[in-house]
Amino acid sequence: MLFPLGKLVPAADLVRREPIVERLVLRLESGQSVVLAGPRRTGKSSVLAEVLGRLRERGFVTAMVDCLGDSSREVLAEDLVDRVLENEAGIPAGLRAARGWLRGLAEAVSLKAKAAELDLTLELAPRSVRGPVADLGEALDFAQRFAKRRDKRAVICFDEFQTARRFGREIYGEIRSHLIRHDRVTYVFLGSRAGLLTGLFEGPAEPFYRFAWREELPAVPQAAWAEYLDRKFDSAGVAASQVLGLLLERTGGHPQDTMFLANELYLVAREYGLDAVGIAQLEQATERTMLLLGEFFRRDWEGLSSTEQVVLRALATGERPYRATGRTRGTARALEKLVELGALERRGRGNYRFFEEMFRRWVATAVR
Ligand SMILES: Nc1ncnc2c1ncn2[C@@H]1O[C@H](COP(=O)(O)OP(=O)(O)OP(=O)(O)O)[C@@H](O)[C@H]1O
Ligand SMILES: [Mg+2]
Repeated sequence: MLFPLGKLVPAADLVRREPIVERLVLRLESGQSVVLAGPRRTGKSSVLAEVLGRLRERGFVTAMVDCLGDSSREVLAEDLVDRVLENEAGIPAGLRAARGWLRGLAEAVSLKAKAAELDLTLELAPRSVRGPVADLGEALDFAQRFAKRRDKRAVICFDEFQTARRFGREIYGEIRSHLIRHDRVTYVFLGSRAGLLTGLFEGPAEPFYRFAWREELPAVPQAAWAEYLDRKFDSAGVAASQVLGLLLERTGGHPQDTMFLANELYLVAREYGLDAVGIAQLEQATERTMLLLGEFFRRDWEGLSSTEQVVLRALATGERPYRATGRTRGTARALEKLVELGALERRGRGNYRFFEEMFRRWVATAVR
């Protein structure tokens, strides 16, 4: 694949994230926990995967757990133990086998051969992981014990941390009560701005208030995108420099949308056997991209209140939101909510703009 889509971006394709990757490595190495909240599809998970990779090279125990992917508290706990155990050379196979065996699921016979490995695994595993169900508190403390036993330090990242709320709100207080006792482990929390900051990290009464240093991913500068895209198209034997400026104008440099549109443009070139692309191909690629993204945009749109919709439509077409709604308080609230959701960014007093240019385009054209 020429352009990475829908998956973690390898370092070589992670446009202009080197500065923040380095900053995060330093901060985490220093032992300070971090919360990185931001709009969807901007590279949070990819950045952290790279950061953890580097920390592991520097001798840290590292682990990334995806709270969204884990279906229950127990799975989350087991996931965490698994990810920590993966730091032990040769463990993955042994671990999976061991845990299957422990649950009476796997063929115990073939496992006997791995006795030495198993001993190690068992010794490492928290008590209740040996039973059918893992305890979250024990799994959390396990990371600390694991690091201590190896005389190492650990960095653990919870991705989509706000989604753990579905296991019950009290889970956060419980998690916190364990984390504050871990002197060997530094934590990273990733997630959406709306869910993560509000209610967890921001207010004095919230469980993670002042727990972590707050970071945000900066926008990727257009020039960095242009340089990257030019190089990529070049490597694929397609001359595209002519339309890259326009392409970036259309995506506003939004990370995933830029990758989408670039990929469509590349596919149009391939489809027609072209070694150069121009405006006509960009139009076709834009149309296809909008068709795909439109489905997601429509869903987001339908989740908004009517005031929020009016506000967005006004901003999408260059009108004043307050004039469009004719309401002061309702508009202010809608703007605030839209910022929290990541649909808008605030650029100073009373100055709002769409975070995603292609969403603006869709609102301006597709919504009647
Ligand atoms: N700096 C970047 N350079 C190139 N592509 C990027 C960059 N950041 C994000 N992308 C694109 O965005 C997609 C999503 O990246 P990633 O999953 O890391 O972001 P995320 O913020 O964790 O998203 P989510 O909101 O889904 O959790 C990638 O597959 C890639 O296409
Ligand atoms: Mg992510």
